[in-house]
Parts: sequence; C-alpha cells; structure tokens
Amino acid sequence: MAAKGSDQPRVGMTAVYPGSFDPVTYGHVDIVERAARVFDKVVLGVGRHPSKRCFFSQEERRRLLQESVSHLDNVVAESFDGLVVNFCKDKDARVIVRGLRATLDFESEFQMGQANRDIAPDIETIFFFCAPHGQFISSSLVKEIASHQGDYRRYVPACVYEATEKRFAELGTGG
Ligand code: COA
Repeated sequence: MAAKGSDQPRVGMTAVYPGSFDPVTYGHVDIVERAARVFDKVVLGVGRHPSKRCFFSQEERRRLLQESVSHLDNVVAESFDGLVVNFCKDKDARVIVRGLRATLDFESEFQMGQANRDIAPDIETIFFFCAPHGQFISSSLVKEIASHQGDYRRYVPACVYEATEKRFAELGTGG
C-alpha cells in the first residue's frame, strides 16, 4: 500500500529534488524518503547535467525513479529541461532538496546552491546528509561495478538492477 512519508505534520510546501539519477540508487531513495517526511509534496526532477553523457535516456531514468519511490504517495518524478529554478517555479516549489555525501559533494553543491540563490532568491536549497552507509555510493560507481560483472544489487532497487543488466546485455558489455 502506498504510504506518505509519515503521519507527523509536514512543512506545507512543495520541494523539488533535482538530479541526473543515472540511475537512481538506494542513496537517492533514502533522501527522497526523508524529504517526503518533511514536505507536503516532493517533485523529483530528472534533468540533464551539462557535462554528463547519460547511460539511460531521460524518460528511462524518470520511469526507474518513479518505480523506486512508488511506496511514497506524496512523491512524483518528472523530467525537465533548462534551469532547475524555472522547473521549481513551474511546480510552485520554493525549496530545492539535495543530498550531501561527507566532503565529496560540498564544492560543487556550494557553487550550484549559490548560483541558484543568485538567480532565484526566493528559492532555498536545503541539504540532507546522506546516510553513513551510503556515503560512497554513486551512480557512476554502480555502472562501473556492473560493467565488470560485479554484484551491485544491494546499492539499487530491483527495477534498476534489471534495467542495468538489460542495457549492458544490449551493449554487449558488462552486466
Ligand atoms: N546517494 C547516492 N548517490 C548520490 C547521492 C545519494 N544520496 N546524492 C548524490 N549522489 C551522486 C549521484 O549518484 C551522482 O553520481 P554520478 O556523478 O556518478 O552520476 C552525483 O552524486 C551527483 O548527481 P546528481 O545528484 O544526480 O546531480 P547532478 O550533479 O548530476 O546534477 C542537475 C544534475 C540536473 C541537478 C543539475 O545539473 C541541474 O540542475 N541542471 C540544470 C541547470 C541548472 O539549473 N544548473 C544550476 C544552476 S547554474
């Protein structure tokens, strides 16, 4: 049965959690579950990082993300192009959620957060510390392990595992 983040009162706001999600990992799911307990609604924005060449198409990334959070009824995954702050305005969201893994993400998140605040001062970025056991997980790491036939099942939802195996099989490498 679909469940909201919790029965506790939440902040009466919509938050956007943007990312490449190529593919979504349990680390992302942990952030989504916690954001869903805090905010009324969480819109997951599947965007394009300017310098990343994605393994899955944007629609495939969105579909896998939606399936991975289907147990949360106040969360929806949508694709977007352009600036994340414009996507926030479209969704009537005044908060951007991002996950922070120890020191790994700080420099880039600091820069992106400052830029977003400069171009859209009404939108705040709120960070959630990633769970200690997932600090080292990243989408690239999952793809690297998969490409060398390693076991990465504990890092990703089952639908992501199946889709990744299928994609590598189609490419004739890894998986
Ligand atoms: N668990 C596991 N991994 C995590 C994680 C968590 N909780 N939080 C972050 N990561 C990892 C991701 O797996 C990803 O790994 P990868 O680099 O190996 O793919 C990495 O951290 C960061 O990726 P992600 O959080 O998906 O975001 P991103 O850096 O790819 O940014 C956008 C993508 C879409 C948010 C960003 O490029 C964007 O906003 N673009 C639109 C243009 C714009 O508005 N730019 C900002 C203003 S200039």
